[in-house]
Amino acid sequence: MLQVDKLSTFYGNIQALRDVSITVRRGSITTIVGANGAGKTTLLRTISGLIEARHGLVIYEGQDITNKRPNRIVRKGISQVPQGRQVFGGMTVAENLSLGAYVRRYSNRVEVEQDKDMVFELFPVLEEREKQVAGTLSGGEQQMLAVGRALMSRPKLLLLDEPSMGLAPKVIQSIFRTFFKLHEQGLTILLVEQDAKIALETADYGYVMRTGKIALEGMAGELLENDEVKKIYLG
Ligand SMILES: Nc1ncnc2c1ncn2[C@@H]1O[C@H](COP(=O)(O)OP(=O)(O)OP(=O)(O)O)[C@@H](O)[C@H]1O
Ligand SMILES: [Mg+2]
Repeated sequence: MLQVDKLSTFYGNIQALRDVSITVRRGSITTIVGANGAGKTTLLRTISGLIEARHGLVIYEGQDITNKRPNRIVRKGISQVPQGRQVFGGMTVAENLSLGAYVRRYSNRVEVEQDKDMVFELFPVLEEREKQVAGTLSGGEQQMLAVGRALMSRPKLLLLDEPSMGLAPKVIQSIFRTFFKLHEQGLTILLVEQDAKIALETADYGYVMRTGKIALEGMAGELLENDEVKKIYLG
């Protein structure tokens, strides 16, 4: 479904991605794990068109989408949940969700309401808080809202950037259960995580990133048993 081929991204003179190649199969949950500053966010943002790739290709469903405009990439079916949620704190839950549907230029009110209901079914607490401003939600609720907002564009591929960050284990479990549910409904997921354990337990296939490069890849279950991964990332 998604193929990233020898992607290189720079911040000025500093190279953040070095010839990164990954494949995300349709219907999979694929994960990228790696320490602080490895380049995980840079990779997702380059796929989404938010940062320019200097070399390499991003191929989505057979089409070259490298350096296309972010809203075009969203319209093609790739939606990103940013690291740190980044919901609009001064706007209500409902307004945040409506914004997620905004890229669908031709969508009508009825469709947007239907999609909101779909999000509320997935995260009932968001319906209870529909009129509340997002800044007053708990961290877990904000993460749910960020995921809900991304779903409003009806993605086929969801990019998740560290959804577990700063959340209590119970909340993480509940959010990851939702990811499984979405996956069962046919959504393909690319999950970026510093928490290698939860990521590899969730995913089918995994990549380990180190200083802007893919250091290791394999079936998630095998990576969990890999000595190096165990030593460095699983404590
Ligand atoms: N806007 C920026 N300007 C300059 N350098 C940046 C910028 N954003 C990230 N970097 C650098 O690029 C490298 C990769 O950063 P990136 O945020 O992609 O890592 P990450 O794997 O997502 O880390 P984390 O787990 O902390 O989120 C780091 O060395 C970082 O300092
Ligand atoms: Mg990051």
